Amino acid sequence: MGLPRLVCAFLFAACCCCRRATGVPGEENQPTPTPDLVEAEVGSTALLKCGPSRSSGNFSQVEWFLIHKERKILIFRVHQGKGQSEPGEYEHRLSLHDSGATLALSQVTPHDERTFLCKSKRPRLPDHYVELQVFKAPEEPTIQANVVGIHVDREELREVATCVGRNGYPIPQVIWYKNGRPLQEEENRIHIQSSQIVESSGLYTLSSVLSARVVKEDRDAQFYCELSYRLPSGNRIRSRRRSLSPFSVNPAEKVWVEVEPVGLLKEGDHVTIRCLTDGNPQPHFTIHKKDPSTGEMEEESTDENGLLSLEPAQKHHSGLYQCQSLDLETVITLTSDPLELLVHYVSDVRVKPTAPEVQEGDNLTLTCEAESNQDLEFEWLRDKTGQLVGKGPVLQLNNLRREAGGRYLCVASAPRVPGLNRTQPVSVGIIGFPWMAVKERKVWVQENAVLNLSCEASGHPLPSISWNVNGSATEWSPDPQTVVSILHVLVTPELLETGVQCTATNYVGSNTTIIVLKLVSLTTLTPDSSQTTGLSTPTVSPHTRANGTSTERKLPQPESKGVVIVAVIVCTLVLAVLGAALYFFYKKGKLPCGRSGKQEITLPPTRKGEFVVEVKSDKLPEEMALLQGSNGDKRAPGDQGEKYIDLRH
Ligand SMILES: *[C@@H]1O[C@H](CO)[C@@H](O)[C@H](O)[C@H]1NC(C)=O
Ligand SMILES: *[C@@H]1O[C@H](CO)[C@@H](O)[C@H](O)[C@H]1NC(C)=O
Ligand SMILES: *[C@@H]1O[C@H](CO)[C@@H](O)[C@H](O)[C@H]1NC(C)=O
Ligand SMILES: *[C@@H]1O[C@H](CO)[C@@H](O)[C@H](O)[C@H]1NC(C)=O
Ligand SMILES: *[C@@H]1O[C@H](CO)[C@@H](O)[C@H](O)[C@H]1NC(C)=O
Ligand SMILES: *[C@@H]1O[C@H](CO)[C@@H](O)[C@H](O)[C@H]1NC(C)=O
Ligand SMILES: *[C@@H]1O[C@H](CO)[C@@H](O)[C@H](O)[C@H]1NC(C)=O
Repeated sequence: MGLPRLVCAFLFAACCCCRRATGVPGEENQPTPTPDLVEAEVGSTALLKCGPSRSSGNFSQVEWFLIHKERKILIFRVHQGKGQSEPGEYEHRLSLHDSGATLALSQVTPHDERTFLCKSKRPRLPDHYVELQVFKAPEEPTIQANVVGIHVDREELREVATCVGRNGYPIPQVIWYKNGRPLQEEENRIHIQSSQIVESSGLYTLSSVLSARVVKEDRDAQFYCELSYRLPSGNRIRSRRRSLSPFSVNPAEKVWVEVEPVGLLKEGDHVTIRCLTDGNPQPHFTIHKKDPSTGEMEEESTDENGLLSLEPAQKHHSGLYQCQSLDLETVITLTSDPLELLVHYVSDVRVKPTAPEVQEGDNLTLTCEAESNQDLEFEWLRDKTGQLVGKGPVLQLNNLRREAGGRYLCVASAPRVPGLNRTQPVSVGIIGFPWMAVKERKVWVQENAVLNLSCEASGHPLPSISWNVNGSATEWSPDPQTVVSILHVLVTPELLETGVQCTATNYVGSNTTIIVLKLVSLTTLTPDSSQTTGLSTPTVSPHTRANGTSTERKLPQPESKGVVIVAVIVCTLVLAVLGAALYFFYKKGKLPCGRSGKQEITLPPTRKGEFVVEVKSDKLPEEMALLQGSNGDKRAPGDQGEKYIDLRH
């Protein structure tokens, strides 16, 4: 041994004293090199240093070896500061780090838990050993309870549950707990047996079976397991746990009735009744209900899951219910305490008098009654509007007017049971003349079209409706005091002349609605055709509504200002004051707004020789007129062919 080597060995030994030492058996005849310990998690990159952790500098010529079965296998070489992997197992996972002083091993696996050797030639250093330790936290443990259930009347140890922790490294430890206290092996009382599997990844899966002598008092005990393992981040022991639902044993000792939903029940609710025991598995059940007349418990029919469904719950479902269980193995029958089920109800809401009839100006007293197992509150509403008109069981109506007739509602509700209420309507008849929804109405029609005309009347007694023309009529009543008749009729010239009248009659009297029919023509009428109708109504093309441009093509072209003035005068006749305003604006050549938002005057900018008038009436919202004047024709003033009105429905 040369002097430099001795010095090196001395230095090396000194350094090793500073390190945490874990004995690794070395060769007998050589001084045991104490390896450096490096810890890494599976999947991470481990950093292997070629010397004491403080040493740094330029490691320009280094060789790295893997110690395998006391043989050294070259895995990496550093030459002139450049690193190169040797072919083999580590070929693709090694790289240089930190100017050659450190070798990085990526994607660490449990198989890498080995010793590595670094020989540095430049600078010349003693051999340096590195031992890699690998860690991996296991997955959260799972517990499987003994699903068959445990009979306590046996002396032997019974399997309680199995705890499994997957993919840990090194092997984690299992600790079993009962009600929060760790369990120890105990002769003839507690036995814990663990076994492990090495996965192909090198990770361990641990399985631990807890067996115990179970006594009845253990029925509600909580058993759970915990895994204990170590990770490189600090030397702390970490653990995780998973609790196991209350553990139950056979035979069952207790049986009870459960009702869903909990809380106050009312008629109409969907209620289920089920039986439960503390046994595992659950035995066979029957549900019984006390018959109120005989006082005997009678079996109710349940569904295949042993549930009794009351859907909807009704007041006769109230009563005493009881569960019975039968353990087929022990032939033990258990009976639950009876459970009182109460279905709250409101029923038989009655209003007196049932069909009140009064003269206008009379007074009326309405009384509401109902049956319930609860205290009730009463409210009175108008049916149409939902307006609250009174509270309490009595409603006093004084000096009744026509408008007060119609349906009222008595709502009986139980304030202690949310959502429990019943409603009874009553129709108050104020005796009087039929009342028409409208007295007079205009309808725009086409000749020879089939038309549905409607007529609505209200009153008490309910009127009947007749028409003054032939046609098929259908009648219906939206409420007890209103009648609507719809007449299906063909529009003939005679009909246009006479118009239509509907008459509503009851024994007090009759009332009428007059329906005026106005002609709408699909095409511009010739003077002849307008004469055949005998109507003074201006003729119209429906296409002219809302689309001035399409009309323009069909209309006579403007030729002279004189005719325009004539046309404007005609319009003025039709639409008095409005026409005058139009004429003014036309002369101004502007496009003004009407007197109100309901009337619009439109002048297409492209054609100054024409104007369009659109009239919307709020009295007859379905009717809109569009008047178009033209200076195109040299017809006489007042000629119908020059005015185009579209009245749309
Ligand atoms: C390390 O040494 C090599 C060759 O010996 C040289 O090329 C390189 O510059 C040195 N690097 C440092 C950081 O000293
Ligand atoms: C209606 O009741 C008011 C007030 O109670 C009373 O003044 C009036 O005379 C009554 N009318 C009739 C017709 O009974
Ligand atoms: C009456 O019951 C229905 C549901 O049953 C509920 O939606 C309503 O609010 C109740 N009305 C009153 C006045 O309690
Ligand atoms: C007929 O009905 C109208 C309401 O459309 C009403 O104003 C008029 O008073 C009624 N006629 C009679 C005699 O009641
Ligand atoms: C008129 O009423 C009948 C029956 O109510 C219906 O079949 C028909 O379509 C209606 N006609 C029109 C134009 O509304
Ligand atoms: C209705 O038809 C009958 C014959 O079916 C006829 O005698 C009567 O004049 C017609 N009435 C009207 C108003 O058209
Ligand atoms: C208005 O006329 C134009 C051009 O003829 C046409 O393309 C358009 O569909 C029409 N619009 C309506 C609402 O009829």
